[in-house]
Amino acid sequence: MLLHLKPEQVEIGMFVDGFDGRWIDHPFWRSRFLVETAAQLARIRQSEVTAVIVDRSRSRSPHGADLAEPYTERRTSDGGMAPPYRGVERRRATTFSPPLREKAVRPATYAQERRRAARVIDKSRRAVIDLFDSARMGRAVDGSKIAPLAQAIGDSITRHSRALINLVRLKQKDEYTYLHSVAVCALMINFGRHLKLDDAEVQALGVAGLLHDVGKVAIADDVLLKPGKLTLRERASVEGHPLAGHALLAQSSDIPAAALEVCLRHHEKMDGSGYPDGLGGDALSLYARMGAICDVYDAVTSDRPYKAAWTPCEALTAMQSWTGHFDAPLLDKFADSLGIFPVGTLVTLSTGMLGIVTGSAGEAGEAIVVRVFFDCDLLAECPPFDCAITQTAREPGIVGRASQKFWRFDDWPATVARVLAAKPEGDARP
Ligand SMILES: [Fe+2]
Repeated sequence: MLLHLKPEQVEIGMFVDGFDGRWIDHPFWRSRFLVETAAQLARIRQSEVTAVIVDRSRSRSPHGADLAEPYTERRTSDGGMAPPYRGVERRRATTFSPPLREKAVRPATYAQERRRAARVIDKSRRAVIDLFDSARMGRAVDGSKIAPLAQAIGDSITRHSRALINLVRLKQKDEYTYLHSVAVCALMINFGRHLKLDDAEVQALGVAGLLHDVGKVAIADDVLLKPGKLTLRERASVEGHPLAGHALLAQSSDIPAAALEVCLRHHEKMDGSGYPDGLGGDALSLYARMGAICDVYDAVTSDRPYKAAWTPCEALTAMQSWTGHFDAPLLDKFADSLGIFPVGTLVTLSTGMLGIVTGSAGEAGEAIVVRVFFDCDLLAECPPFDCAITQTAREPGIVGRASQKFWRFDDWPATVARVLAAKPEGDARP
């Protein structure tokens, strides 16, 4: 049964089947989805559409009787319109929330969490193998079994933000197919938290990471793992995986809308040259853009049959140079979320100095080399020296990206060229 509701009457848990009015006035690139987050709800309520069409049969409201009545039939005694879903607000926490646990998660040291993260990764890997095996046989996905995995990965990131993300990046070539899903889940959760998305959205994005490549079960292994160039036919098979995955998830239960979206759109590009539909620019949602970044970042920082892994710094530097592929400002935020910066980035150090990222050091790629050249207290340049900074060391650390404008480097390219051309004084500590 389809109901026509005013935007302000839509609630979390309702399945939107379409919008009345001009398509350009509605705030979503998709017209059919389950309202799952406060952010989605706010966008609907603030939109210019005249009415929202809600499919009662696909909604998850506990108040079937309420949903049976279109808003036009709900009038107060004075003839005004009654808010139709008052009960939903009170009961939403238990009915619509994803399985977010209330218990506090305590921080851990890097070494402690690395051990726990290894167990979380192993358990997740086995669950993803089961999921893919099941999907290969055409069985629908049970989203309620995936959500706890995303929760466990999110808890690990809460205990220590780097342990699991660093560990899962070091996957073996033959583990890639399954651990890539675990890695993208962790990256999406970490990125979503950095963007200060609400907890339910972050959880849904974690599930999206685990499920985004489920359509790859439709690709033959010899094509999936082929080191050489793909034939046109093989390429078509590979590029069919977002649609195949989306079709499977659309028939499955308890799949967040974010997961459907990321699954379908993680290979689209901002300039419209991606697949499956060549969408670009504003047609791509935040979730789709985040999915594209996390997916590629994990792919290029992993050892593959045809390519050795890049360090995180190399990966971000390369990704930044691929004009038109990613949402550039969002890619900067992703780098910030990992505390890793592309070559050439101006960063502030915890010691009150400014430096320019020049590369990464070490096999694990966890150390970043910064050419330190400016003292923020003295507001003056100092003789440049190189400093290798690890994420796990207490001092010195990278506080974050610094603004060239704020520090008045008016000709920034010339400053970079001059500082990088100078002979450094060696690996001293600032
Ligand atoms: Fe993919």
